[in-house]
Amino acid sequence: MNILILGSGGREHALAWAVSQNPKCDKLIVAPGNAGIALLADCAALDIEAPGAVAEFAAENAIDLVIIGPEAPLAAGVADRLRATGIAVFGPSAQAAQLEASKAFTKEICDACGAPTAAYAHFTDANSAKAYIRAQGAPIVVKADGLAAGKGVTVAETEEQAIAAIDDMFSGAFGSAGAEVVIEEFMTGEEASFFVLCDGENALPIGTAQDHKRIGEGDTGPNTGGMGAYSPAPIMTAETTDAALEQIVKPTLAEMARRGTPYQGVLYVGLMIENSRPRLVEYNVRFGDPECQVLMMRLGGQILDALQACAEGRLTEAQINWADDHAMTVVLAADGYPGSYAKGQKIGGLNGLPETSSQMMFHAGTAKHEGEFVSSGGRVLNATARGASLKDARDRAYDLADAVEWPGGTMRRDIGWRALKP
Ligand code: AMP
Ligand code: GLY
Repeated sequence: MNILILGSGGREHALAWAVSQNPKCDKLIVAPGNAGIALLADCAALDIEAPGAVAEFAAENAIDLVIIGPEAPLAAGVADRLRATGIAVFGPSAQAAQLEASKAFTKEICDACGAPTAAYAHFTDANSAKAYIRAQGAPIVVKADGLAAGKGVTVAETEEQAIAAIDDMFSGAFGSAGAEVVIEEFMTGEEASFFVLCDGENALPIGTAQDHKRIGEGDTGPNTGGMGAYSPAPIMTAETTDAALEQIVKPTLAEMARRGTPYQGVLYVGLMIENSRPRLVEYNVRFGDPECQVLMMRLGGQILDALQACAEGRLTEAQINWADDHAMTVVLAADGYPGSYAKGQKIGGLNGLPETSSQMMFHAGTAKHEGEFVSSGGRVLNATARGASLKDARDRAYDLADAVEWPGGTMRRDIGWRALKP
């Protein structure tokens, strides 16, 4: 099988690593890829948000399956074009990708199918939004409707903060994403992510994880794309996982199909869990980054069969062979991230690292310069390991991270604290 993966982050390195372990994988191309991915696949320069260019490239290279990593190509309709051309693709249509692109759309779907989520109201003018905030009181959550690079959400502890967020959003701080807002009830509990493959009709859970969104230890400081993750999430007991599947995921899939926009791809279900009861915080229409790294570390080559079955609409034939294991990934980021940071710094220690089925350094923002690895982004490396216990996985992930020679890099030393606390 010839496979094309779109993307260039740690998520795509992990996908490429897992897929390449499956004996069915003959040729693997990643576009655009990165310096770590180049060690195990061909990297190709390609405008991955241009549906026509991707379809042409896939046809020229006799690609049998395209796996789309990030959200932007999905929103741009790359999956639609490939499907229309008859090329198997893992990833939702642009219509179905609205589950991530529009908070208001997702809330409407939840209403229609009865999925438990925070109570909410939707506004297109600042005055009525403010009146609603005054009537509800704080804490309260204000969200820009469209994609705002993860920065469109304000969890306001006071009414004043919520009103200020409304002023920001309607003053154009988030571009067109702020012209509509969703205001939500503040939910208490613990967050976890649940990943489910969907073929338009059927659902196959592939794991749970917890991310660490803040830059600082103890979950302090500004939000990032994610500084580390582990799988499974202990709070996702069998009972809670089943409730999330039956009450949230399956009704959502049925409602999407009923509307003529079936969902096919991975559904990343962001949950808030209180007293074992899951409620939906948000959907993403792609794998999480760095959550994908721990999922792939646990699943290995079998993921290719599941992704293919998903793309071909025969997910009922797929299954996951579960191991009773744990995985952790620790993100090494450039000093200054998520603010401004240097690029092009030399990174040593990467050549002699162990690369096994249970310990891998996934690259995110790396490039090669004069034969050496250099940093080329904010999140740069993902030290990832698997173990019989979470503690074991953690020790082995940090061993890998500590072998990296990069004075300009930084990492959190407390990934997994919630699950490892005594
Ligand atoms: P979102 O982009 O919708 O995932 O929101 C970003 C983060 O804000 C989430 O991961 C939660 O930590 C927090 N959040 C969002 N909505 C709520 C809510 N209704 N109640 C409490 N926290 C929330
Ligand atoms: N790690 C969070 C995300 O991928 O959205």
